[in-house]
Amino acid sequence: MILVTGATGTIGSHVVRLLTERGVPFRAMSRRERPGGVRADFEDPASLAAAVAGVDSVFLVTVPPVPTADHDLALLTAARAAGVRKIVKLSAIGSGERFEGATVGAWHLAAEEAIEAGGFVWTMLRPPSFASNLLWHRALVQAGEPIPDLTGDSRQAVVDPRDVAAVAVAALTGDAHDGRRYDLTGPELLTFAEQAAILERVLGRPVRTTDAGALDGLPAGMRTGIGWARSGGAAYVTDHVPRVLGRPAGTFERWARDHREAFTAGASNP
Ligand SMILES: NC(=O)c1ccc[n+]([C@@H]2O[C@H](COP(=O)([O-])OP(=O)(O)OC[C@H]3O[C@@H](n4cnc5c(N)ncnc54)[C@H](OP(=O)(O)O)[C@@H]3O)[C@@H](O)[C@H]2O)c1
Repeated sequence: MILVTGATGTIGSHVVRLLTERGVPFRAMSRRERPGGVRADFEDPASLAAAVAGVDSVFLVTVPPVPTADHDLALLTAARAAGVRKIVKLSAIGSGERFEGATVGAWHLAAEEAIEAGGFVWTMLRPPSFASNLLWHRALVQAGEPIPDLTGDSRQAVVDPRDVAAVAVAALTGDAHDGRRYDLTGPELLTFAEQAAILERVLGRPVRTTDAGALDGLPAGMRTGIGWARSGGAAYVTDHVPRVLGRPAGTFERWARDHREAFTAGASNP
């Protein structure tokens, strides 16, 4: 049995889709009551204990309101007590790098270290920015307003979330990826403005960007990660997605084409 946390989110929903397509048994965790799902909250240890009962492998996705590993650690405590064997953790590119005296992705790193120390079989997935982050700006795109650019001239190999999910499923359903730490990049380096230009071409209408300015207003954890990316830290492409999936990683343009509808006026939330 596989427990999918973050099951209603960007990556988890694709993991759920892929496991369903393959007929692999799983439990989808959400804070809300959902048909066939398990209701649990990282803030509620008793709910986690129930969610992991009888589970062999966990897909671990956390989005803590403050950047600490507390949600990961709560799940790991429950998992250890229940005898869970494997953890596949959604982490982030650059976790553990140093930038301006701080650690990039410090809470992801702390969670990764706890997984390793906890005696689990593990796979760490470390993607850069998801192509789907552009959906955060859908209302601005629809209104013809410029979208905020946090990363300026720096490039990242933006990844299609469907590829991240496919790698997660490979790691959850086989042993070939045990003990691996993958930087799950897309196939090409793009600035944010280049992503906007591709989206503009695909949508056939202007998608402008505006410099988001200083990062001072952001929470410290985010500021370090974005500052590191902005300084060019994440400007690299790996072959980890093609190596795991046996096909090229999806391009940003392909993602944009597949999600054109989501940017048209009146589209509902995904
Ligand atoms: N976006 C990026 O570019 C990017 C890049 C690299 C790494 N990452 C990492 O990816 C992770 C986010 O993945 P995602 O974008 O797939 O997530 P997401 O779309 O934000 O969804 C996360 C899900 O977590 C669930 N959740 C939130 N709080 C919870 C709680 N207290 N207890 C139980 N479940 C809770 C929510 O489900 P319910 O509402 O149904 O409970 C939500 O659907 C983060 O760790 C982030 O650091 C993101």
